Amino acid sequence: MKTYVVGNWKMNFTVGEASIYLHKIQRKLPNYRDVAVIVAPPMIALQSLSLQVDVHKLKLAAQNGFYRDYGAYAGETSFSQMVGLVDYAIIGSGERRYVFGEDDKVIARKVSAALRNKITPILCVGETESERAYGETADVLRDQVLSGLRDVSKEDINKVMIVYEPIWAISSEESSKLASIDEVTDAVKFIRNVLKESFDEGDDVPVLYGGSVNPSNAGAYLTIPGVNGVLVGGSSLILSEFLDIIEIAKRVQR
Ligand code: 13P
Repeated sequence: MKTYVVGNWKMNFTVGEASIYLHKIQRKLPNYRDVAVIVAPPMIALQSLSLQVDVHKLKLAAQNGFYRDYGAYAGETSFSQMVGLVDYAIIGSGERRYVFGEDDKVIARKVSAALRNKITPILCVGETESERAYGETADVLRDQVLSGLRDVSKEDINKVMIVYEPIWAISSEESSKLASIDEVTDAVKFIRNVLKESFDEGDDVPVLYGGSVNPSNAGAYLTIPGVNGVLVGGSSLILSEFLDIIEIAKRVQR
């Protein structure tokens, strides 16, 4: 399986800045066959960047999308409107769940809508600080994986990607800290078991880790058995760091 490096730019960069940044990445990025590089720019830049992207080097992702295809949903953008602009969509990221209050039902509908429009959903799951403190991590992961994939058939399970993204380890969280290798190992193993139990499958589903990934820890996370890549927020906004993480992914590629 490929190793995935996904950069989530979140609400950073103007359209012009995003274009310059993509240009810089593409100029320096080798064309690796076994490392899939994906960037998720702000929604407003997707259309112009889709004309600029060198698809041999990287692919574009949306950071979100709405589950209806068309209609009176002011301010939203549907996955059907993104067809041709993106190949992937991040769904249920920490900020969508805990800043914007998206629940598992909404997230499940978004996963289905992305699949319906042939966009690969990158479903994020992860426990909060207090859920972790109460020993609820496994229950939360099981619930979020099963409800997020509620409407996904066995045939389609290999068309999704999952990210273990503990909320407390995201760098924008005030109390953010690093997830230990053991914690990520256990969580990823658990997610794979849930996939196996429910879909009889799962080995071909890429499972990534996300949460304060940077060039100093990427190698350690990427060598965890069962981890197929990283979702990078803050560090993906710094050209040298993002390129370093991609190089590390190339080196540890199995
Ligand atoms: P950081 O890498 O900044 O912790 O962000 C992780 C994340 O939320 C990616 O979506």
